[in-house]
Amino acid sequence: MIPPRFIPPLSCLTFLCALILSCLALTACQGTKPPAEPSPTVSPTATLSPTVTSSPWPVASQVDGDRAYRHVLVLAEDIGSRPAGSGAERQAAQYISQQLITYGYRTQVQEFTFEYYVEEAPSLEVVEPTPLSLNPAALRLSAGGEVTAEVVLAGLGRPHDFPPEGLKSRIALIERGELSFSDKVTNATAAGAAAVVIYNNVEGPLRGDLQEESSIPALSLSQAEGRQLQAMLEEGPLTVHLSAKLAQETGMSQNVIGRSPQDDCRVVVGAHYDSVAAGPGANDNASGSATLLEIARVLELGGQQEGVCFVAFGAEEPGLFGSRHFVTTLTSQGQPSPQAMVNLDMVGVGAEWQLMGSPALVEKIDQGAAALGLDPLPTEPRLNTDHLSFMAADIPAVLIHRFEDPRYHTEFDRAEFVEPQLLEEAAKLTLLALAALTSP
Ligand code: BES
Ligand code: ZN
Repeated sequence: MIPPRFIPPLSCLTFLCALILSCLALTACQGTKPPAEPSPTVSPTATLSPTVTSSPWPVASQVDGDRAYRHVLVLAEDIGSRPAGSGAERQAAQYISQQLITYGYRTQVQEFTFEYYVEEAPSLEVVEPTPLSLNPAALRLSAGGEVTAEVVLAGLGRPHDFPPEGLKSRIALIERGELSFSDKVTNATAAGAAAVVIYNNVEGPLRGDLQEESSIPALSLSQAEGRQLQAMLEEGPLTVHLSAKLAQETGMSQNVIGRSPQDDCRVVVGAHYDSVAAGPGANDNASGSATLLEIARVLELGGQQEGVCFVAFGAEEPGLFGSRHFVTTLTSQGQPSPQAMVNLDMVGVGAEWQLMGSPALVEKIDQGAAALGLDPLPTEPRLNTDHLSFMAADIPAVLIHRFEDPRYHTEFDRAEFVEPQLLEEAAKLTLLALAALTSP
């Protein structure tokens, strides 16, 4: 028996995790898929005690994808869209906290503020020779700013479409087509433009995204208005006033931290629970939050929660604010750094498992996953989500996610597309990760 307030040494945690790992190997053997060769990390069955081998499913067998799916329904359907800083986000935090308390965890709702930019409606007005008001949109990730300058026609925005002497702080008027919006804006910036206006090459208004933030304002126009400007330019010089304002606002959000009564936080299982405003965020990321809750439940049931803590992050979507706040609070309070972090983000839709993050961690989990009949593919660390806040603080971290979901960040990211079976697999992969993390 572990006496109250006893924090088990790592070797003890290792033992428990070896236990989980062994059980997972057994899970796979009883599944419908043919068992894969156990990898070297799935070998320490020798440490199993007789009592434990007589109960081969203390943790993994308890994982229930349907239970996890019910959390997805609450978060994505009952609560719905949970933009950072909103009342719905707060309601979701309360739900997650309540669930963790029910399972027997001590929870803390850790509040923080975050700064974000709101786009004000952009404007574009011809000042000379004839005043005219147009109806632009801002390309997503456009810089804010105000410019009054002459307009220069710059074809499709290819390098040779700009005048050889450069744009000299004038505004480039570019037609959509051939290059991405980002490439057009990059070329215009290199040519010395103060702003860019891209107009549609087919009938109708134009809305679009840049791949990364631009350093100059970038607006879009309908084909009709673009052609109108072009026709005016053919008559002589044209001066416009362009404005793309971004107002800075402060939001309030919160992380929910679940710890077992005596434990510290040696391994963090994390998932963000906010969503974009555009949709209910069932896969991004009610799926990860729901899986986190199911893992917390089974670990507590099996008495295997020692050293593991659970953190549901707020305000991930506007820029990883919750996870960064959690990490900086740990550091600023001089608390010991976690040894590792496992991030669950978008685990309920898609055709294959992927892992990314600290290479040693990715490799460990990948080696063991075959025992589950799963086949995660390590990939390049290019996805921007909460494990990066830990890696930036030199805490090894790994992202477990499912690839690919064409509906994320849209109104169609709905619960009906989330598969309970995938939530179950994600929970088992995470248990495997916890085991691998503490094995020698
Ligand atoms: N859930 C996504 C990241 C993601 C995408 C994970 C695909 C797994 C598969 C996350 O919520 C997100 O949207 N991140 C932003 C960047 C963030 C810093 C605002 C993104 O990827 O655009
Ligand atoms: Zn997202």
